[in-house]
Amino acid sequence: MSENHDLKNSEGRRLATVVSPSNIAFIKYWGARDLDHVVPENPSISMTLRTCHSRCSVEHLPVGDTHEVRWREGSGGFKVAPPSFADRVVAHLDRLRDHFGCGGAFRVATENSFPSAAGLASSASGFSALTLAVLGALGEDSDDATRSELARRSGSGSASRSVLGGYVQWPAEQGNYAEQLWDHDHWDLRDVIAVVESGHKEVSSLDGHRRARTSPYFETRLRELPGRLEAVRRALSERDFSALGPVIEAEAIDLHCVAMTSEPAIHYWKPATLTVLEAVRGLRRDGVEAWITMDAGANVHVICEPHSEADVVARLQGLNGVLEIIRDGVGAGPFTESEPLL
Ligand code: PMV
Repeated sequence: MSENHDLKNSEGRRLATVVSPSNIAFIKYWGARDLDHVVPENPSISMTLRTCHSRCSVEHLPVGDTHEVRWREGSGGFKVAPPSFADRVVAHLDRLRDHFGCGGAFRVATENSFPSAAGLASSASGFSALTLAVLGALGEDSDDATRSELARRSGSGSASRSVLGGYVQWPAEQGNYAEQLWDHDHWDLRDVIAVVESGHKEVSSLDGHRRARTSPYFETRLRELPGRLEAVRRALSERDFSALGPVIEAEAIDLHCVAMTSEPAIHYWKPATLTVLEAVRGLRRDGVEAWITMDAGANVHVICEPHSEADVVARLQGLNGVLEIIRDGVGAGPFTESEPLL
């Protein structure tokens, strides 16, 4: 992580502000061998983004105080976060406090640059930023593996990948932490995100992991994965977009097949999801190489190379049901800031 801007406030208490990007998985984490300890069923590979991010400030409070969690959604000011979010944050603050054996409590302020809990991996960026800001506020100078492991233990496994930039792998065996495969300079891939749903999704990814094994297609997907992981690693290594695209699209569709056939079923797709998928097939028919991937939500990430980005944006803009287009791409990972949110 670049630069260390951890500061002391007027009362001499230490605070830190971290901006952490979201990430988009090319091979997804879906289903856990041990959900309580966030041990995944399978390895995952992602691209860290640069535009979609969370910003989080953490102040270390003296013993006797209690944790405070504020967030800002949209344009208003910071408010006390609702229990559905604050409880997860507080649980992670307690976990980190126990890990470092320190006393006191934390004051947290956090915001996202993009719609929260809508399948755009806001928990990955949010818990990565939170973890790194707590480390900063405690003056802990951990290595990448420790940062990743601590972020993973938040409960959002994908947060373990967001602490690193570029192309990142989270192995399933010895899967405590993620590691960088290549940095962001390796390959300038773009992610044009068609936002078709900005509200909170109905079923969290945590519930998705919980239900994954109930799908009759879960084992089939697991059997496909070793070949797919190898294909994605090779395509990334060789910067071979024609090899990468079909694999990541098939992988995303499979995840949603598993979700739709879980018990109870999870239907993340909206009509506009299909509209975007059809538009991307149309782009390919017209010779523009672009392939989709999706997280646990209705929004569609269209992955392409820089020379195709303008065509992709033009085709998606104005499609029925597309609320917003976010132009994103591979990013360098989290960084600290000097200006606190608190
Ligand atoms: O990290 P979680 O528990 O929010 O799960 C992430 C699930 C997916 O975004 C669908 C896949 C992934 O690997 O990011």
